[in-house]
Amino acid sequence: MTHDDHGTVLVAGGTGFVGRRLVPELIQAGRDVRVMTRHPDRYHGPGEAVRGDVEEAASLREAMVGCAATYYLVHSLSSEDFEARDAEAATAFGKAAAAAGVEQIIYLGGLGDDGDQLSAHLRSRREVETLLGEAGVPVTVLRAGIVVGHGGISWEITRQLVEHLPAMVTPRWVRTRTQPIAVADVVRYLVGVLGHPEAIGRTFEVGGSEVLAYVDMMKRVAAIEGRPLPVVQVPLLTPGLSSLWLAFVTDVDSRTGRNLVDSMVNEVVVRDDSIREVVPFTPMSYDEAVRVALEERREAR
Ligand SMILES: NC(=O)c1ccc[n+]([C@@H]2O[C@H](COP(=O)([O-])OP(=O)(O)OC[C@H]3O[C@@H](n4cnc5c(N)ncnc54)[C@H](OP(=O)(O)O)[C@@H]3O)[C@@H](O)[C@H]2O)c1
Repeated sequence: MTHDDHGTVLVAGGTGFVGRRLVPELIQAGRDVRVMTRHPDRYHGPGEAVRGDVEEAASLREAMVGCAATYYLVHSLSSEDFEARDAEAATAFGKAAAAAGVEQIIYLGGLGDDGDQLSAHLRSRREVETLLGEAGVPVTVLRAGIVVGHGGISWEITRQLVEHLPAMVTPRWVRTRTQPIAVADVVRYLVGVLGHPEAIGRTFEVGGSEVLAYVDMMKRVAAIEGRPLPVVQVPLLTPGLSSLWLAFVTDVDSRTGRNLVDSMVNEVVVRDDSIREVVPFTPMSYDEAVRVALEERREAR
């Protein structure tokens, strides 16, 4: 596959928050796109829907026949045993890709420093990077922190906390720094690395234009929405308790919420910005990303 090749591309997770925004952009770029989902009958978006379940190896082999490249945008964060499931799924996906002669797997994983004590969620996302490539297909990894866009789980937590809490109770993790990125910018990077000779087999870190603590993100959202957000310092709130009140004030699935809160002690900031040379553009500011997400929400309603 060369940079200009127009081979068929499979998007595993093409119905998800990131995937459903990626599919139309790939089509726009002239690619034939297969959207892999467990429920093709329910899919009415662009591209060709194909049935595939990462827990059924045979379905993966069939879905990938004739594909030059595949995206891997799948996780099982709402399952209790997500680490084992995601490890098995990534191994099976990598094997099927090798058997089908796929030349590039592109995976959107998580930021976080290896030297840190990473949460189970971030460790699992990191393990998937290696397992996807074990059967020999080169993997391009894009590691991201919070992805901002209507329907994104981490963004929804931020928005709903700001909108539903009369005052922000602040456990220690609200001081953790992160580098949120607009979903449109993630999609730009995902499209940009496809078939790019300088991206094959490489790991990149992607982030927006600002590094912000969780509490600052919430204050910015409150300011944009014109809401007051008094902040009450309660440094001893444990992650367990945090995820409990998260379940009360947001509609995010409680197990997913718990797994994400556990990750909030880990700083997720870009250390190496070499992606800027491979796919050059200036990412949106946080405020801009928030305005777009809120606008998307208004339109969806
Ligand atoms: N959202 C964020 O803020 C964020 C931040 C950093 C990194 N990421 C990464 O971005 C990727 C995509 O995340 P997302 O937020 O777009 O996820 P999402 O909205 O939860 O979508 C998950 C996708 O996985 C598919 N899926 C789940 N189980 C499957 C299975 N057994 N077999 C086949 N497909 C399965 C679902 O497809 P069907 O239900 O149609 O089968 C769905 O399209 C993940 O790797 C995630 O770690 C996300």
